[in-house]
Amino acid sequence: MVDKLPGNLYDYPGYYDLVYGSDWKAEHDFLIGAFDRFINGGAQRILEPACGTGRLIYRLMKHGMEVHGLDLSENAVEYCNNRLERHGFPQTAVVADMCDFHYDDAFDAGFNTINSFRHLEYHDQAIAHLRCMSQAIKPGGIYVLGIHLYPAVGPPIEEESWFAQRGHLGVQTNMTLMHRNLDERYEQYKMRYDIWTPTNHQVLEDVFRFRTYTSIEFQQLLDEAGQWEIIDTFDFQYNLKQSMPIDDQTEDVVYILRRV
Ligand SMILES: C[S@@+](CC[C@H](N)C(=O)[O-])C[C@H]1O[C@@H](n2cnc3c(N)ncnc32)[C@H](O)[C@@H]1O
Repeated sequence: MVDKLPGNLYDYPGYYDLVYGSDWKAEHDFLIGAFDRFINGGAQRILEPACGTGRLIYRLMKHGMEVHGLDLSENAVEYCNNRLERHGFPQTAVVADMCDFHYDDAFDAGFNTINSFRHLEYHDQAIAHLRCMSQAIKPGGIYVLGIHLYPAVGPPIEEESWFAQRGHLGVQTNMTLMHRNLDERYEQYKMRYDIWTPTNHQVLEDVFRFRTYTSIEFQQLLDEAGQWEIIDTFDFQYNLKQSMPIDDQTEDVVYILRRV
């Protein structure tokens, strides 16, 4: 007997964090190295838009940084703040839309990895986000933005799955492409979580859209938004020693954007 869980995939931060929270070390080390390398004087005050459960926030706080997060999901923000408090840090995450936010004090850097930016389905939202970020980050600061591009050559990845286990709890996620419309610039995915305990099997299914970007479309977006220049590119290996210039086959890219 399988129970169906109501809600969307970000309504269950505990399950999200179990699956994706374990994958933090490479990103964490990369971010610290990138802040040092690309910002004069390094970074102290950092912002993560679409922070979710804050799997990276509390770890960067442990590294001595002041890190703030914002996210649309109330459950994720609560989870993030509770964990910050448990580790003795201030509750710096807030519920907000990454297309419409403002902070009085500027940040040295921002980061937004694993495609969250592509949740912004419309052009105007993407522009609004980049402009909010350019208000939030100091000139000379950086925004580390990780997305999958639509490659000009070769088939893109259409399915991904992950599994994680803690004690008797096991969570398997599967993300499958259902539909792609490059004229309207979206991909529609089905996400399924299977959650097992020794006595129960629950399933959560959700459908969502990602906006598509080729490298040219992303560059055009930056040009229109203004105040950002690409200063380096890497891939999801997060190896700071190995820049990855974008070519026709590039899919996963971590842009280092400098606030000009
Ligand atoms: C893939 S999760 C990434 C979470 C976190 N950045 C991480 O690396 O684990 C995407 C997050 O984007 C958030 N999100 C989607 N649209 C948003 C928006 N317009 N403003 C703020 N957060 C948004 C979701 O609620 C979700 O927590």
